[in-house]
Amino acid sequence: MRKTAFALLAAAVLMAGCGSGKSARTAAGAKVFASADCGGCHALSAAKSSGQTGPNLDQLKPSYDSVVRQVSNGGGGMPSFAGKLSTGQIRDVASFVAASTKNNSAALTAFKPNHVKLSDCHSDYACYKQAFGNIAYYENPEAALAKLSSYMKTNPMVNSGCHQIAHEIGHAGYVRYHDNAAQALANGSMTCWSGYYHGVIERAFGGVPRSKVASIARSLCTGKEINKTYFLLYQCVHGLGHGLMIYSLNDLPYSLKVCDHLATAWDRTSCTGGVFMQNFLPGPMQIAPTKWVSKKDLLYPCDKVAAGDKLYCYLMVTSRVLPVVHYDFRKAATWCRKAETGWVGTCFQSFGRDASGYSVQNPRKIVQLCRLAGSMERECIYGGSRDLTSNDAGPARAIKMCLLAPAATRSYCFNGIGTILGSFANEAAARRARCNAVPAAYRRDCYRGARA
Ligand code: HEC
Repeated sequence: MRKTAFALLAAAVLMAGCGSGKSARTAAGAKVFASADCGGCHALSAAKSSGQTGPNLDQLKPSYDSVVRQVSNGGGGMPSFAGKLSTGQIRDVASFVAASTKNNSAALTAFKPNHVKLSDCHSDYACYKQAFGNIAYYENPEAALAKLSSYMKTNPMVNSGCHQIAHEIGHAGYVRYHDNAAQALANGSMTCWSGYYHGVIERAFGGVPRSKVASIARSLCTGKEINKTYFLLYQCVHGLGHGLMIYSLNDLPYSLKVCDHLATAWDRTSCTGGVFMQNFLPGPMQIAPTKWVSKKDLLYPCDKVAAGDKLYCYLMVTSRVLPVVHYDFRKAATWCRKAETGWVGTCFQSFGRDASGYSVQNPRKIVQLCRLAGSMERECIYGGSRDLTSNDAGPARAIKMCLLAPAATRSYCFNGIGTILGSFANEAAARRARCNAVPAAYRRDCYRGARA
């Protein structure tokens, strides 16, 4: 008798402990599904609806992220609900749809390993994502990322979509290390603009209530593993900025505020870089539309944000300008010249960073594009050399680029290489040694950049 009562009590406590938040959210989501009349267009057995206009959600089994994206953006005949539903309601309905179509009813879809291999994928992007994720899960993330960089050289689809694949490898790494974000972060690499780190951080915030985000953010990048080098620490706090925007569905002031509560000034600005970069991603790469861009003023919000946030905003701003002007770098240069006094050079560093990305790290093309910067050519070259060094996690192609660049820009170019190389090691002697690959005539410039 007593035993039974105890067992019942234990079961009740367990259920209250593990399921309450989720079931409250899915229950609220069911109401949103009904009131927004999703069922008028979609069949979903959990909602007893049988609409035929849109896909059958029981069959589609969409992920949480894809429901958020589709409901926020609309598209393909479905209206956007961004103005009609709050972000909380959009999350609720996404939890509901994802949970009720998944057997395990996990509201946030974790990476699920299976046995798909790279050799099974033939021009199928989703297949590549899964296959790379499987390598991260069954072998380790570093192996998956190494494979990714070798595929990028020969497979155009993998190359152009490498960032999202790296995100997926991050999701898989997060599962492999049992949701320990710091450990996952320490076992990755920076292939394709560090998408791996972004993916891990995205997962670290999945399903966490706002009241807990700031404290998680403060402790996330404090582990010993991460603090071995500035580079890793940078990836962690920069990834954190991306993660905050993804988490808050592009609430820029909120994300900046969380960054502002990190421990050091360096952490704070590096975090805001991730926030702005995420904000400036083109629409199709966004999880929800952002309010923090303007069609008329392509430098917005850099010309409006607080002084302390301007640096990283302008360092990223051409990523906003270029897609709007259809990658006409001449027009982008005109925009940069319109930047506020004191920020024109920073905008051209961003221009150089994007010249590197746009040319897929082609040293000769970067130098060509930088000519369009006119009197700001050296800032562009500097931005290009830093992006190349960072993307490659080494100086080989950046050195090539600096030697192709006009003589007058060269020492600044090597200085840029040094700023990144210096972040790969913590001790002065080790930072200095990183510059050995630089031609003797410019080694001093590299040392200065590396603070060695
Ligand atoms: C007016 C009809 C209509 C309404 C209302 C509607 N949808 Fe859709 N929905 C569509 C159509 C059509 C598509 C197919 C879009 C496509 O093929 O790109 C779609 C696609 C989707 C997808 C698939 C996205 C993917 O990953 O491919 C999801 C999930 C979805 N809708 C959820 C919802 C939810 C949740 C609601 C309510 C908030 C809703 N829809 C309301 C018509 C509608």
